Amino acid sequence: MDPGRFFASSRVLIVAGKGGVGKTVSAAAIASAASKTGRSVLLVEVAGRSASAPIFGVEPQGYEQVIAVHEAEEGDPPRGRIALRSITPDQALLEWIAAHGFKGLVTRMASSGVLEVIATATPGVKDLLVLGRIKAFESEGAFDLIVVDAPAAGHAIGFLRSPTGVRDAARTGTIHRQAVEILDLISDPARCQVVLVTIPEETPVNELIETSFAVEDEVGVRLGPVVVNSVLPAVSGLDIDLASLDVSDMERAALQTAATFRAGRTALQDEQLARLGADLPLDQLHLPQLFGTTIGTAELEVLTDALLAGIEALPEADS
Ligand SMILES: Nc1ncnc2c1ncn2[C@@H]1O[C@H](COP(=O)(O)OP(=O)(O)OP(=O)(O)O)[C@@H](O)[C@H]1O
Ligand SMILES: [Mg+2]
Repeated sequence: MDPGRFFASSRVLIVAGKGGVGKTVSAAAIASAASKTGRSVLLVEVAGRSASAPIFGVEPQGYEQVIAVHEAEEGDPPRGRIALRSITPDQALLEWIAAHGFKGLVTRMASSGVLEVIATATPGVKDLLVLGRIKAFESEGAFDLIVVDAPAAGHAIGFLRSPTGVRDAARTGTIHRQAVEILDLISDPARCQVVLVTIPEETPVNELIETSFAVEDEVGVRLGPVVVNSVLPAVSGLDIDLASLDVSDMERAALQTAATFRAGRTALQDEQLARLGADLPLDQLHLPQLFGTTIGTAELEVLTDALLAGIEALPEADS
């Protein structure tokens, strides 16, 4: 599929998955890949700590931050701008109150911790506030694409389920209307899709499959392709005849151990990838496992290009 078309298919991509599987890294790669197709991107972090800034090689700042994007190489389309934005429920509440014209007492109540009281009384309200802010970004239309680095999976279900809960708890009024509007957004595939991230290991794959069905059936959200992160690149030559090498016996034994280990890990990984493909009818995008200590701009480029290649290899959508 043409990556330009892929990134034009939905205005909001919510990147979700179990803790530590690479949601932040995948969201950054998605934002960067979309930017390479010329789209302007708002990358939203929900956690409240800016984990993406270092991936783009910038210092984290509190609020909204425009990330310097690399110049397009000759012959490539111009890159779209990427802005990074961290949101917290408290800040979202204050902005919501301001946008709805409440003044004075309500505003002072909100800044004095009343959110904790409301949130305890109405579960899901914090997540709803965050989703409400994302919906506001979407309707402002300042960016072609909004990529959301969502909270970890057990939590992601709660996060996406929050509008249903709040809609049913608050039967009428502004909050009810807010929940209904957010449900309209997240259940419309032309406006919002969820991209689930996993790594090619047994437990994360199982959880991803469970989460997928929960997200689609209970929340009614459209799932985009699954990102499988940290896929070991194929290595050739593991089956070389070590007896033919001019090395010491000790070295030969060490090489044999390494080759067997790597071949074993690759086999386990391939088994999980095959199982994921068989149990979950969704396309897969693979990101390679990179070696090194951190993911910075150079690593991001590698992941971005891998993602774009994966998208190009996807079948054309039916619609
Ligand atoms: N493809 C990769 N190759 C090498 N290292 C990676 C890769 N993807 C992620 N990492 C590293 O793994 C760690 C976890 O990644 P990341 O922060 O993206 O996960 P996460 O799902 O966002 O975690 P959390 O649930 O804590 O937010 C980070 O240290 C990151 O640099
Ligand atoms: Mg993260």
